[in-house]
This record gives sequence, C-alpha cells and structure tokens, in this order.
Amino acid sequence: MSTPQSGLFALGTASHAYLEFDARRPEAPVELVGAVAALREPRTTIGGVNLVVGFRPELWRELVPEEAPREVEGFNRDIVGPDGYTMPATQHDAVLWISGSAYDVVFDMAREAIGALEAAASVAEESSSWPYRHDRDLTGFIDGSENPSLIEAPEFAVIPDGIPGAGGTILLLQKWSHDADAWEALPVARQEQVIGRTKDESVELDDKPAESHVARTDQDEFGKIFRRNMPYGTVTEHGTMFVGFSAQQRPLTAMLENMAGLTDGIRDELTVYTTALTGAYYFVPSTQDLRRWGAME
Ligand code: HEM
Repeated sequence: MSTPQSGLFALGTASHAYLEFDARRPEAPVELVGAVAALREPRTTIGGVNLVVGFRPELWRELVPEEAPREVEGFNRDIVGPDGYTMPATQHDAVLWISGSAYDVVFDMAREAIGALEAAASVAEESSSWPYRHDRDLTGFIDGSENPSLIEAPEFAVIPDGIPGAGGTILLLQKWSHDADAWEALPVARQEQVIGRTKDESVELDDKPAESHVARTDQDEFGKIFRRNMPYGTVTEHGTMFVGFSAQQRPLTAMLENMAGLTDGIRDELTVYTTALTGAYYFVPSTQDLRRWGAME
C-alpha cells in the first residue's frame, strides 16, 4: 500500500510556510528531487513540524515516468475569462509546505531547508500563513465547511493503489490577494450573496446566486477536493493561500475555469474582491516514492 505524505492531513497547525523553488538545472531533475527527498523534519514530539513536498508534474514525470500520474500538467498558461479576467500561471519546480504549532519552528525548518537545497534550487516565492479567528479566511467567512472529513478525504485527494502515482496527490497552490476595503464596504447580506453561505454559521443559501463562489465551485458538479486554505500576509497586503488537493487534476482546473467564467460567461463574484497573484500545480508523491530518491536515514 502506498502512503500519502502525512502532513497533508495534519489539521490544526497554527503556522505555515509555503516555499516554491526553481531548479538551478531543470534539465537534471534528479538533483532537485534527490535534495528535496533527503529533507527531514525534526523528530521532536512537542515542537514538531510537518513537511509536505511536491514537484512540477513534468519534472517528476521525466525522472520517474512509471510512477507519475498520467496527463497531469503544470499551471503552464494563464486562465483568461471572457471579460479578460486573468489568473496568472506562475509555475515553479518544487514546493515545500512546512506547518507547525508556532512560527519559530516553521521558520527554523524553512531556513534549514533553504540551506540544504542551496546547490540544487533557489527560492522563487515565499508566503507565511496564520489562522484568523479559528477557522475563518480573511473574508471573515468560515473556510472549509464543505470539505470532506479526514476519514473521507483520502478517497478524494489521494491517487488509489494500482495506478501510476499511487499514494500521491495533485496540489493547486494559488495566492489570492484580498481587497479588504472593497470587501468590508459591502453589507454582510451582500457578502453572503457573494460567497453563497451565511457569515456567522456558514449555512448554504437556498437561493444562492449563480455567480456566488460556492455555486461556481460546486463539488456536486465538479467532484470533491480537499482544501487546506490559510490566510497569508501582512496588515497591508494579505489574502488567502488556496491550498487544494485532488486525486485528479480535472476538478481543480474545472473549478478555476468556472470561476473565471470560461464555461458559461458567469464569473465568480468573489474574484471582484480577490486577485490571483500566483498559480501552480505540484505532484506530491507518496512517502515510498519520495524515499527512493532521498539519502537513506
Ligand atoms: C480568494 C480565494 C478564496 C476564498 C477566500 C475562498 C473561500 C471560500 C469559502 C468561504 C467557502 C465556503 C465554505 C466552504 O465550504 O469552505 C468556499 C467554498 C469552496 N471553495 Fe473557495 N475560496 C477561494 C478560492 C477557491 C478556489 C481557487 C477554488 C478552486 C480551485 C475554491 C474551491 C472551493 C470549493 C470546492 C468550495 C466548496 C463548494 C461546495 O459547496 O461544494 N475556492 N471557499
């Protein structure tokens, strides 16, 4: 049986860092994959951190064709809606998602990892995340209400045994900047129409508009995904790190296309108040596939 990287499902961690890297020699994927696979989280029980690693799908496929999910691609082209609304493609070669109980342990591990990867890769993008009012994103709404539970999540997020990439998952990582002033100028009843749920209790609206966010990303239509979104940023520049996992790439791309209005011309109204700054897909291999490439412990 293939085992997914355990940090995927480690809920409740208060501090996160997302580091995206560019390979110094992308034509030699073994250097980057070997260096990333050799990283180890500190083995302490109390201040411990979770480490999840992923690779640009094409880079992984070049190195491990037999254990790469078929037809998975990087975020190689901008998504442009009919009105010109654009979600940019900012693909990099590898990602580290480090999470823990407090920022000090995340910070130390992130610095150590950057040092260990120095010869193979350079940091291209960095964000730190922290929880806002327990389980809300920076719109003030509860985020994750329609997530599958931890018991169900592997069924939707992890590639099943018997197919290439088993135990792995496909990550969509997208950094969304919020226009907090414009959002907060809306009365709560309007904000609820934009999201499609109530703000206090996250109850889905019976008559949610077609342009509401939950109508555009309806999992009954596209299939279930597993989201680990977090707020990111500083007081003056902040938003949502969208961190979504799926056993197949299609639900993720279909949701993005539908949010941009590519299917029926209706654009997700949340995108009036939020702007995608980055967009990348990573293949997050099983622990067994990863260990094949790392130095033995
Ligand atoms: C600024 C960025 C985003 C914010 C602030 C945001 C926030 C939210 C909120 C508040 C909900 C309702 C509660 C819940 O079920 O979690 C929600 C639902 C959802 N969002 Fe997002 N989201 C963002 C981007 C995205 C993106 C880029 C995707 C897909 C690629 C996505 C997929 C979903 C899905 C699948 C649901 C549940 C829909 C259903 O009811 O079946 N979200 N989001």
